[in-house]
Amino acid sequence: MKQVIPSLGLGTFRVAPDVTTASVKSALELGYRHIDTATHYDNEAAVGAGIRASGVARDEICLVTKVWFDCLRHDEVLASLTQSHARLDVGTIDVALIHWPSPDGVPVRETIGALQEAVERGLIRHYGVSNFTAPLLEEAMSVPGGDAIVTNQIEVNPFFANRADVEATHELGVKVTAYMPLAEGRVHDDPTIRRIADHHRVSPAQIACAWLLARGIIVLTASRSRDHQRANLNALNVQLSEAELAAIDALDCGARNANPPFAPWNWARV
Ligand SMILES: NC(=O)c1ccc[n+]([C@@H]2O[C@H](COP(=O)([O-])OP(=O)(O)OC[C@H]3O[C@@H](n4cnc5c(N)ncnc54)[C@H](OP(=O)(O)O)[C@@H]3O)[C@@H](O)[C@H]2O)c1
Repeated sequence: MKQVIPSLGLGTFRVAPDVTTASVKSALELGYRHIDTATHYDNEAAVGAGIRASGVARDEICLVTKVWFDCLRHDEVLASLTQSHARLDVGTIDVALIHWPSPDGVPVRETIGALQEAVERGLIRHYGVSNFTAPLLEEAMSVPGGDAIVTNQIEVNPFFANRADVEATHELGVKVTAYMPLAEGRVHDDPTIRRIADHHRVSPAQIACAWLLARGIIVLTASRSRDHQRANLNALNVQLSEAELAAIDALDCGARNANPPFAPWNWARV
C-alpha cells in the first residue's frame, strides 16, 4: 500500500486565514509533518506562511491541497494548481486531491490526465481523490495514471465508520485519510468513548483518533489550540484493546456530517 502521507495531519477547514498561520506553525513545531488545505478553504497563503515561519525543513513536510469540483477540466486543473502553488509559495505541492468527484460529468480520465501533467510540470509530486465512493474510485484507478492515486480522503468517525468505502479503498491498495474524525464534536460526550478515554487517562478526541489509526487510516484533525494539537498528536501513542475497538465499532449508525447536495451519493437528487 502506497503511503506518502504521514498518519496524522493538521486540517485547516473552517480555520480563518488570520489564525491559520499560527495554527500551522504551532503544529509543525509540535511534530506534525502533514498539513491539509484546499483552494476552497481560502487559506492557502496563510498555510504557506505557517510552513515558512515554522523553520521545519520543507522536505520533511507533506503538504496536501485540493482542486474544487468546478475546476476539473484539463486546463482548469492546471490553472488551479498553478495558483495554489503561487499562493502556498513553498515549492512543489506534495499531494493534490480532486476535492469532490465531478457532479457535472467531467470525465475523471481528463482530470487525472491533467494531474499527471501537473506532476511533469513540477507543480505537485503526487495526487489523489476525496469523497470518492468505491465505484468512482475504481473508475478513477482504471484510467491512465489512476494507479498512482495515493489516497481517498473521506469522512470517517465512530458514528460514521463508512465501512464499505474504507474497505474498498484499502482493497484497491489506496490509503484512506479520514476527515471529521471527531464527528463535529459528538465524540466528546459519547459515554462509551468517555469510558475508554477515562481508562486510558486521555480525552475522547484522542480515543477517536486512536481508533482510526488502529484501522490503518490516516487522521486529520483541525485545531487552533496548541493543547488540542499536542493531544491529538499523542493519539499515536494510545493502544486500544480488541474489546475497546469493537465497542467503538458498535457506535456506527451511518450518520454522515458532510452531506452537500453535490456529493456523489446525492447525485440522483441534484
Ligand atoms: N475532503 C473534504 O471534503 C473535507 C471535509 C471536511 C474536512 N476536511 C479536512 O479534514 C480536516 C479535519 O476535519 P474537521 O476540521 O471537521 O475536524 P475535527 O478535527 O473533527 O474538528 C475540528 C474541531 O474540533 C475541535 N478539536 C480538535 N481537537 C480537539 C481536542 N483534542 N479536544 C477538543 N476539541 C478538539 C477544534 O476546536 P479547537 O480549534 O478549539 O481545538 C475544532 O472546533 C479539516 O480541517 C480539513 O482539512 C476535508
